[in-house]
Parts: sequence; C-alpha cells; structure tokens
Amino acid sequence: MVDLSISLTPELRLQNPVMTASGTFGYGREYEPYLELNKLGAVVTKGLSLLPKPGNEPPRIMETPCGMLNAIGLENIGVEAFLSDELPVLKAAQATVVVNFFGETIDEYEELAGIMDQETGIDALEINISCPNVKAGGLQFGIDPRMAASLVAAVRRRTSLPLITKLSPNVTDIISIAMAVEAAGTDCVSLINTLTGMAVDLQSSKPVLANITGGLSGPAIKPIALRMVHQVARNVNIPVIGIGGISSANDALEFLLVGATAIQVGTCNFANPVITAEIAAGIESFLHERSISHINDFIGSLKIPS
Ligand SMILES: Cc1cc2nc3c(=O)[nH]c(=O)nc-3n(C[C@H](O)[C@H](O)[C@H](O)COP(=O)(O)O)c2cc1C
Repeated sequence: MVDLSISLTPELRLQNPVMTASGTFGYGREYEPYLELNKLGAVVTKGLSLLPKPGNEPPRIMETPCGMLNAIGLENIGVEAFLSDELPVLKAAQATVVVNFFGETIDEYEELAGIMDQETGIDALEINISCPNVKAGGLQFGIDPRMAASLVAAVRRRTSLPLITKLSPNVTDIISIAMAVEAAGTDCVSLINTLTGMAVDLQSSKPVLANITGGLSGPAIKPIALRMVHQVARNVNIPVIGIGGISSANDALEFLLVGATAIQVGTCNFANPVITAEIAAGIESFLHERSISHINDFIGSLKIPS
C-alpha cells in the first residue's frame, strides 16, 4: 500500500493529492453520477462572488488544437445560493471542499471570507486574485506584489480557514508575487490560472470570442505551468499546488516531482469526467512500482544536474 495522503496545513489533510480546478467541476453536483466525490483529494468549486454574476456574452468558449480558450467572465450563482443549495450536496457526499472566490474590491473579498468562515462544511478557501479591481482602475490584484499582499492580508484577518492563494501566470515575475502573498499570511499558493490568449475568424475577420481575449488552458499550457511551479516551489516555504494542462498521472507526477504538494485537474475534466480518479490510481501504481511507500518521499525529488 502506498500512502498518498498529504497535508496542506495541519488542519487540511487530503487523502490524495488530486483536486479539481475551479470552474471546471461546477459545484461538484454534475460529477456525482461519475465519481465518488469523497474519494477526491478535494473538490474546488467554481469561483463565487458576493452576488450572482451572469458572466460574459457568448461566444465565450473556443476549442484550440491542444486546449481551450474561455471568457466565461466568472459566471456564478453567488455565495448565498451556494451555501443554501450546493454546499449541502457536497457535505452529504462527505467531500473535502475548497471554495474558490473573488471580489471586485478588497471589501468584497473580505466580506465573502467572513461569511464563509462562519459555515461548517467548508474545509479551505482559495482566493482568485486575478480579477479586475474596480477601485484600482481596472488593474488586477494578482499582477502587483504589494496589491496582492494587501488583499491576502485583509482576507487572512477575516478567516481562520486554511487559505490558498491562486496565482496568475500573466505576470513578469511570479516568484515575487508568491513570496509577497506568503509573507501576507497565505497558507498555500496554487498556480497557474489561465494565460491570456486570442482567436480570430478569417471568414468574418472578427475575434471568435465576444470578449475578444480569453484564458488559455489545457495541455498547451503545461510546460509553462511546470516551469512556474518549479520556480515558486524553490522560493517559498509553504505548500504549492500545481495546475495547468494536467491530463494524465504522468503529468501529475511531473508537477509533484518539481515540488508541488498537490495538483488540480481542470480542462481535462470536460473530456473525461473520471480523469481525477484515474490520475490518483496512476500515481499510486507509479509509486508502488518504484517501492516508494509515501508520496512525501517523491514530492520535490527532482534531480538538477550540477
Ligand atoms: C471554463 C473555465 C472556467 C474557469 N473558472 C475559474 C474560476 O472561476 N476561478 C479560478 O480561479 N479559475 C478558473 N479557471 C481556471 C482553472 O481553474 C485552471 O487554473 C486553468 O484552467 C488551468 O488548468 P487546466 O489547464 O488543467 O485547465 C477556469 C478555467 C476554465 C477552463
């Protein structure tokens, strides 16, 4: 037997390192017919805001040769409907629940964190810091280390739940952002979110997405994500969760090898709704074949030639 359990914080222990990525697993309910949600490391919900959001106009999804572009615009049902209609389903399934959330102002992030702190059945929060910030003139919190740190510090003061900060790859130096949010009190970082991309239609000479640009995800982004996880893991002292194009156990193992303590699977859930269970089983057999009895002995074991 291989022990796949990992700890993200002393309170947040996952039975295996395979989590779902926000926005690609709904609120969990849709996948219940295919998967036992309590067998996953954790379910990460679609990003929640204080009030429901309709998201962007269609078309807002475009398939690319090795992934997808999306400009959903953070459509969600709002925190109240989540707590009354969706959280009970996850609780009944005994899933480990990580709630991804976002706001347009620091006040909104703080208010959300305060509301969720009072709930039972939420195991951790994941802050998405790559959203437009109205008060700072349309800038994103996630691209400036000082703004990212003030946001995380404010949220930290409002909740004692384990806090994961999800980083944007659309920055020049992701290490400085990771170090800033670590200093501000986040318990873990997760990376990466989508990379800004674009598609155009030659027939109509128009952009494909109504929003013009969208976020690129899926296998196309894996090498970039792997590089960023490697760099961040070497520069922070908190657990790193690897995300980006993971579509097999080998992909997941590569992220663990470079130092991720856990991983999240996103776009690939759309193609194969049971991929998370297959990845957990694949990690177990790989470690078993190598006679590695605890996953911690594999995490971060990358050998860099001197
Ligand atoms: C349709 C879609 C919706 C997403 N919504 C969110 C979201 O609400 N919050 C968030 O932090 N990330 C969101 N993401 C980003 C994913 O969680 C993940 O970071 C990204 O897709 C990279 O992983 P992947 O290549 O495995 O998909 C979304 C991604 C997709 C494809």
